[in-house]
Amino acid sequence: MSVGQLGKENLKKLEEEENLLSAEVRQQIDHWIAKYPQEQKQSAVIPALHIVQAANGGYLTNELLDEVAEYLQMPPISVYEVATFYSMFELKPVGRHKLSVCTNISCQLCGSDQVVAHLRKRLGIGFGETTPDRRFTIKEVECLGACGGAPMMMVGQTYHENLTPEKIDQILEALK
Ligand code: FES
Repeated sequence: MSVGQLGKENLKKLEEEENLLSAEVRQQIDHWIAKYPQEQKQSAVIPALHIVQAANGGYLTNELLDEVAEYLQMPPISVYEVATFYSMFELKPVGRHKLSVCTNISCQLCGSDQVVAHLRKRLGIGFGETTPDRRFTIKEVECLGACGGAPMMMVGQTYHENLTPEKIDQILEALK
């Protein structure tokens, strides 16, 4: 291997070490980028944020948002706008299980207040808070499109509908 090649290899290695997005994460983002015309990389911003959030233990940091912006060649402010608009993105650490409780009109009319009260009583935390053992975070969200099953909440990616205190207890037990 020539000196020039060695230099290039070292530079590549250094770049990889400095990049907050791992090779695997970038590969996953590339999979989404490939679905859009080449000049519209930014169309992959939502899946990219999901991928980076999952790889970072469930939340995003400003540094990661900047990296995503650079990778998708878009202004950082646009990435910040997306990350702050959608409730599925977290900008601070969350518990192992994220309980997203819908309090929108259908769920409210069908008893989301009781769902919230029961979760508060069981876990000792309110919206936006995480239990000291970092197992649960409760989050208030807008309509998740499951109004027919109100009151409902999403645990991770799973919908739980027609909630009652008993049903909530069973769900929490299963998440131990
Ligand atoms: S109002 Fe709760 S899912 Fe639609």
